[in-house]
Amino acid sequence: MSSILADTAPRFLADYRPADFTINTVNLTIHLDDTCSQVVSELTLERKGDNQQALQLNGEHLTLVSLVLDNQALSKEQYQINDTLLIIPASSLPDRSHFTLIITTEINPQENTALEGLFKSGDAFCTQCEAEGFRRISYYLDRPDVMATFTTKVIADKSLYPYLLSNGNKVASGELSNNKHFVTWHDPFPKPCYLFALVAGDFDLLEDSFTTASGREVALEIFVDKGNLVKAEHAMTSLQKSMAWDEETFGLEYDLDIYMIVAVDFFNMGAMENKGLNVFNSKFVLADSHCATDSDYFNIEAVIAHEYFHNWTGNRVTCRDWFQLSLKEGLTVFRDQQFSAQMHSSAVTRIQNVRLLRSQQFAEDAGPMAHPIRPEKVLEMNNFYTLTVYEKGSEVIRMLHTLIGVDKFRQGMDLYFSRFDGMAVTCDDFINAMSDASGKDLAQFKLWYSQSGTPVVKAQEMFDSQTNIYTLTLRQQSPITKNQQNPQALHIPVKVELISENNDEPSQSELLELTQTEQSWQFNGFTSKPTLAMLADFSAPVKLIFDQDNTSLLTIMKQADNSFCRWDAGQKLLMSYLHQLTFDIDYTVPTELINAINDMLNSGGDRAFIAEQLSLPSFDEAASLMIDIDPIALTNAITTLAIFIARGTQQQLLTSYKACQQDDLKENAVANRALKNVCLAYLSLLPEYQYLVTQQYQQATNNDDILQENMTDSLAALTCSSKNNLDDLNEQLEHFENKWQQTTLVMDKWFALNASVVSEDVFAQLDKLLEHPQFSLKNPNRARSLISAFAMNNPKYFHCQTGRGYQFLANQIAKLNEINPQVASRLITPLIQYKSFAPAHQKLMKAELVKLQALTNLSNDLKEKLDAALN
Ligand code: PHE
Ligand code: ZN
Repeated sequence: MSSILADTAPRFLADYRPADFTINTVNLTIHLDDTCSQVVSELTLERKGDNQQALQLNGEHLTLVSLVLDNQALSKEQYQINDTLLIIPASSLPDRSHFTLIITTEINPQENTALEGLFKSGDAFCTQCEAEGFRRISYYLDRPDVMATFTTKVIADKSLYPYLLSNGNKVASGELSNNKHFVTWHDPFPKPCYLFALVAGDFDLLEDSFTTASGREVALEIFVDKGNLVKAEHAMTSLQKSMAWDEETFGLEYDLDIYMIVAVDFFNMGAMENKGLNVFNSKFVLADSHCATDSDYFNIEAVIAHEYFHNWTGNRVTCRDWFQLSLKEGLTVFRDQQFSAQMHSSAVTRIQNVRLLRSQQFAEDAGPMAHPIRPEKVLEMNNFYTLTVYEKGSEVIRMLHTLIGVDKFRQGMDLYFSRFDGMAVTCDDFINAMSDASGKDLAQFKLWYSQSGTPVVKAQEMFDSQTNIYTLTLRQQSPITKNQQNPQALHIPVKVELISENNDEPSQSELLELTQTEQSWQFNGFTSKPTLAMLADFSAPVKLIFDQDNTSLLTIMKQADNSFCRWDAGQKLLMSYLHQLTFDIDYTVPTELINAINDMLNSGGDRAFIAEQLSLPSFDEAASLMIDIDPIALTNAITTLAIFIARGTQQQLLTSYKACQQDDLKENAVANRALKNVCLAYLSLLPEYQYLVTQQYQQATNNDDILQENMTDSLAALTCSSKNNLDDLNEQLEHFENKWQQTTLVMDKWFALNASVVSEDVFAQLDKLLEHPQFSLKNPNRARSLISAFAMNNPKYFHCQTGRGYQFLANQIAKLNEINPQVASRLITPLIQYKSFAPAHQKLMKAELVKLQALTNLSNDLKEKLDAALN
């Protein structure tokens, strides 16, 4: 056995080659055991063409027991093995193009804290194979363009693991000796191994069904920890809604007889779309009004939809290679956003999508890990499940939808499925289908897939009062970076609305296609200069530079037809005050803001929308629009502006608060709570209203009438207490902990609240919480609830001048590097974005990165980001 260097070099999109071999069928027999599970994998392989290549199978953390090729055991001289590969040289392979290989390996699920491959979540066995986790289960051609038909026999103790699940349909089951049993599953759809799944455990099972448009009955099964059955009902309803929506919107039906979802507590991500057997982070399944907030409900529905939609966009048509990840993710996020917009308020849903994009994705695109939605170079694939691939990817699909329209988009989807069903394809294949179906030339549009960074669009307007011609000039520029020296002009759909001053001249809405570096458009039909509302519906993921005075912004807020523009104008106004306040904390905010906010509160419009209008830009949203950020000045500016608003509008805030509280109408309950809690957040800044926080906490958490208790209101009150470090805080936190100590997902909220307390004491608290009996770095939700909550929700102390906040984060990342590299790598995001901060902060952050880079056993996940950040 010779040794070969382990595979730690980056891979490039440009190096893609089709595989030399493919796998047609996989027959797995898996004997489950905590510390030594045995996997027997029987592969039928096929050599493609007449190549003379060795067969190289991926495998990591595996113990090879035996290797049998066409019924002949291979001796150790006939193959080579290293940390990442099993290589069978051509000389050991038969001349025939078809042959079989039986690989027996052993793995240790109990020790698998990385939660990739086969691992234990509590008492259950569970798998996670995307992106490259199957290689931790058995040696395999672990790449998405190798698609095989899987048959899986799971064997385990019958009492401990009454449910044995895998993909597809159940084809056999039975008893074995030693109190064991088995179940065999067959998935008729060829799939890449990243869609393989296996679960074994003891669960409560919620059962229902769905009849497809063509009349097939599908069994729906949701598996949850014992005692949680009622908490799965919302997920079940969400699933049924998603199935109906995909039929109505895209004519897409489900294709197996059974759809299973398993909720587990140990999971790195949100959920996984394994064929017929989704595995979910329990936080995206379990909900009842006592333990889940309105946004938890919303997110559960969205994630259930997202994974369901993957059955077509991801599973039936999958990715040729991992560089194409946005093919399935961007498209599926777009689909789940459209679904949510239709189930709820489309205006509010869109605003929340944009808030996420502008606060997090823009920062990523401006940082050292910036990449196109189709990356070109990858060291650790897990690092590319990013806001860019997902959220910007979705924006790119949305632009396409805007450019060709809803009907042509549907025809494009139909064509895409008719061309590529059952295949592993590329982003180009998708765009070509859209182009062919719509007749639209999308050659330039494709640049969105290869260029990174947020494009800047500058607008300039001119009104000629002689000719009454209004001219709009747009210029675009994508950022120049080390990896992108010469960015080209993109094809950018810019929806504009020209708001007329005169009642007898209608406003005009237009879709402009900006394709040049600089382009102008002329409009007539106005006898005085109209007010321009740009980027209606946020029609493109760009930064807009357009100097508009407050009068114009107020006009847009009041008069624009497009709800997004009305909201965005308000945010711009608020942002301009924040900007002023960061330079001069004594700056006097004009009282026109108070009038505008009182008008909003009095408007009688959708309360959820008003709640969004009233919400200040978050720290991250504001930061993404600034350079050389002084984080302390920014947090102070946000607080000062909030207090100014609270003081100026307190009467109206109180009236609205009470009105929302009283109108406990079932249909509008979510919107009522949204506005009520925004009002409370403002009022809690003023000592004379802090009694409201105490009252609301009591009502929502400690009520004689348990039906009155509500997590949204309880958490909103606690958040006010923790943000303002109110007198009752400690008592409330203690009460909340006692009440919820048995409920894992609520305890995550409790840890997050503790980490968000705006007080110098937070550091002592963090140290104490690390020692809390319920804290564990091995549980990703719990690790994030403390560490990420601190770094993301507590900017004042995360960025404190002593550097203690940065140090705390780096210390936990160092520990997680050994336990769970994926989680470690996600947590490092705020540190690697150090270059957007003022020099003193940069220096402190960078020092922590340098320390991390020196770790022994540094994972590829962290290495890739640290190298990018520090060079
Ligand atoms: N593919 C999953 C989704 O987007 C995300 C995921 C990626 C989950 C990698 C686990 C591991 O739905
Ligand atoms: Zn997805």
